[in-house]
Amino acid sequence: MTNPESHSDHHQYDVLIIGSGAAGLSMALRLAPHARIGVLSKNSLTEGSTWYAQGGISAVLHQQDSIASHVADTLVAGAELCDERIVCYTVTHGREIVRWLQQLGVTFTHQPLPNGGSTLHLTREGGHSHRRVAHAADATGKAIESSLADNARSHPHIDIRQFHIAIDLLTSGKLIGRDNICVGAYVLNLQSGKVEVFKARFVVLATGGASKAYLYTSNPDTCSGDGIAMAWRAGCRVANMEFMQFHPTCLYHPKAKTFLVTEALRGEGAKLRLPDGTEFMDRFDPRGVLAPRDIVARAIDHEMKRLGIDCVYLDISHKPADFITSHFPTVYSRCLEFGIDITREQIPVVPAAHYTCGGVMTDIHARTDIQNLYAIGEVSYTGLHGANRMASNSLLECLVFARSASEHLLGQLDQSPYAIDIPPWDESKVTDSDEEVVVAHNWDELRRFMSDYVGIVRTTKRLQRAKRRVDMLRHEIDEYYNNFRVTNDLIELRDLSLVSDLIIRCAMIRKESRGLHYILDYPEKDASMNNVSTVLIPNNFAARS
Ligand code: FAD
Ligand code: SIN
Repeated sequence: MTNPESHSDHHQYDVLIIGSGAAGLSMALRLAPHARIGVLSKNSLTEGSTWYAQGGISAVLHQQDSIASHVADTLVAGAELCDERIVCYTVTHGREIVRWLQQLGVTFTHQPLPNGGSTLHLTREGGHSHRRVAHAADATGKAIESSLADNARSHPHIDIRQFHIAIDLLTSGKLIGRDNICVGAYVLNLQSGKVEVFKARFVVLATGGASKAYLYTSNPDTCSGDGIAMAWRAGCRVANMEFMQFHPTCLYHPKAKTFLVTEALRGEGAKLRLPDGTEFMDRFDPRGVLAPRDIVARAIDHEMKRLGIDCVYLDISHKPADFITSHFPTVYSRCLEFGIDITREQIPVVPAAHYTCGGVMTDIHARTDIQNLYAIGEVSYTGLHGANRMASNSLLECLVFARSASEHLLGQLDQSPYAIDIPPWDESKVTDSDEEVVVAHNWDELRRFMSDYVGIVRTTKRLQRAKRRVDMLRHEIDEYYNNFRVTNDLIELRDLSLVSDLIIRCAMIRKESRGLHYILDYPEKDASMNNVSTVLIPNNFAARS
């Protein structure tokens, strides 16, 4: 184990994990008995998508269910673009992951058995042909994240740094022009305002997704694609960024910052209706409201545009009130805050950006293209989700790949560390910004044109427009970045604009409609593109030896 070396602006660990969601914290806990770990969170420890996850975690836990069925459903939802080997690998570990979480103290919802005792209550969500979603009422993420955080906080080998935002990865390629081994990161300490060096023998990106590229999103503010941007700049390939998932049902209310209404409501019988009360999903898919997410979101978008309406309605009021309040306490109380009693009234909903299916390319051990750099969770592209992630497969992916990455990394710990001097962050050519308005304006402009031109329904013309705008914006942001001291907003804007560019580029390459990528100029699936991912290769890419 490396001795911790921590001066005020220079830190050293065996493993630096950037991100403290389900992926980052579960990896930290698996490694901590054997190594000295640093965990960075750009906000408070628990702020990230994981905390807000509602529906649950998918796993084959029911005796009538099978691995083959979970695999088949995932492949169908992914529209012939999943990597079947990765799907099988992930699904096979589901049961063990749920047990591991229980051992850490996560309390999942149970139901009584007829002969006494109880068993896990499993709910259903879109695309799943069985009940296979383990959950803690409708606040599964909170239950998982708080257990992981409690365990991590009390572990003597885990050093947690909240309010520290990673700016860029440190690689030998960038520092001395050879080998391309990851050796740490430059990190802005948001409390002191200083950029510090975090050196490590191994670095893990666990930074979550990039849905903040859109104006309306179910994601918290942390989801600005930082890990994807850092990996790309360091020389990693990125894949399938065109597949940005929109969740069909987010609360529509002028005062609500987008709030997700879990798909589990539909799993337990909720109906989707137009303003006149008509149900419409059966017109779009025989699976109705439980069709995979891409289909439901597109159907809602279609109906909203066709009828010129602001939202559609989700209705579970036909179920007994105590069933609703016990299964969905979070949704019930949040809607009540806005004057909607879901035991009696229907919920106004719209689709919103929710999940980044693409990301940093990794192998089955979560290794990226750069030696000693791993990527796990939503930041990564493992091949599990294909063209559309099936509900509740994301938490599963976070935990399964944190496990496989840990196993691989532990096998490398006896390697001697790569000796390299890291210069301090150079601030000699920058000054404090006197035009913060530029950052605020560009944030807003970026998210607006991404929503208008690169949303649920795309056209070649809209993508070309978006590309022109993102090029201009990135030029301006880079200039700003080179002249002024970095801030949290500037770092995120620089990353999000780069990731938006990657989304647009992938979308322009895919000349067919498949899964979440629907483009009017090519409305059909092209069978010759089955199993063909969109891979972007950075200029500084060098294949790992
Ligand atoms: P996150 O949990 O987002 O954590 C990312 C971490 O990285 C945060 O700690 C953040 O501060 C940190 N970070 C980011 N950038 C930097 C940086 N530059 N420097 C330092 N730190 C950084 N999936 C399911 O499977 N089931 C569900 O029921 C479900 N429900 C969901 C409901 C909602 C509302 C949302 C938003 C998502 C839901 N998902 C669900 C998706 C799932 O929650 C996420 O994909 C998953 O939690 C991602 O975990 P993660 O660890 O990869 O990232
Ligand atoms: C939900 O609860 O509807 C979200 C589930 C998911 O994103 O997997």
